[in-house]
Amino acid sequence: MKPLSQETVNVTSPANIAFIKYWGQRDSSEVLPENDSFSMNLSGCTTSIQLTLTENIETQEVKIRDYATGAINQASPEELAPIVHVFELLRKKYSLHNAGFSINSANSFPKKAGIASSASFFSGLVTAFLAAYNVSETERERTILARKSGSGSAARSIPDGFVWWYKGNEDADSYAESIAGPDYWDLVDIVVLVSKEEKQTGSQKGHSGAHSSLLFPARQFFLNHAINDIKEAFRNRDIEHFGTIIEADAVSMHSVMMTQDPQLFFWNGTTLDLLRTTLELRSQGIPVYATIDAGANVHLISTRSFSEKIINIISTRFPGIDTIYNEPSVGTRIIGNRNY
Ligand code: DP6
Repeated sequence: MKPLSQETVNVTSPANIAFIKYWGQRDSSEVLPENDSFSMNLSGCTTSIQLTLTENIETQEVKIRDYATGAINQASPEELAPIVHVFELLRKKYSLHNAGFSINSANSFPKKAGIASSASFFSGLVTAFLAAYNVSETERERTILARKSGSGSAARSIPDGFVWWYKGNEDADSYAESIAGPDYWDLVDIVVLVSKEEKQTGSQKGHSGAHSSLLFPARQFFLNHAINDIKEAFRNRDIEHFGTIIEADAVSMHSVMMTQDPQLFFWNGTTLDLLRTTLELRSQGIPVYATIDAGANVHLISTRSFSEKIINIISTRFPGIDTIYNEPSVGTRIIGNRNY
């Protein structure tokens, strides 16, 4: 068995925005999704994790710095449980000895507000844990481990840039990989922070209700077309075609959410106002398209040359609402001299 690393491991990991969304699982224990999904890592929405393993196995300390106030809070029992689960999963897989842990974590954006904070956290956590135990692992395998953490979409935060998560047939082939680096296309994601409130229903519960929606089969039909079409639009860097598909995908996922049992309504009035604003901006010749994850916040997707104009219009029309500017970014990174 390899010795316990005494040093603190520092990792940074991006959130990602899905262009083709993951909603619904065909196997919840293995976290196998119903469909392939496709995303971009976000340069402005990152989580940093400092992990130190301790000899005292009783130590299970997680401190989270609050995005808004800067205050350092201890993780709640609900937040701690999935972290302990990930550590148990990894220890078992690699026959590692038990150890306590101390974690400091900070986000550059609000957590649990539909900006994939669990994706950035769990992708970082898996990577930090393996590094702390001196386990060297392939990127593909790390995406599989991240998939089985608290957040399936964490798999997509590990590789660089634009990332495809294959639904696969079984555990070993449901993994994520980069299909293009961050420099491939100058897309931007302007996140409009309609709400900084933490969502009430975690995605895990939401996935299990997806099949109860009568619109779920219609979504699968839509995806059969959308998945082929988005590959073509991406290949051609065709923002109009690409944007039309991602907007339809988001509306399709939210239609399932709104009609599943129990129903999930994530949008608020401002969400809808922003969707109308994107239509209006398009009619003025600005190629901007909206997508929304499991929250009220709206991600405005466009290309870099239009970003300043879009941010100015949004801040004039929606005073007091913050935005976060993102370009495509690299995936999870260990800071310092360790690397895979
Ligand atoms: C709506 O099970 O990955 O964001 O990260 O906790 O939200 P969380 O969980 P996860 O579900 C993500 C669902 C989604 C769509 C997506 O990112 O593909």
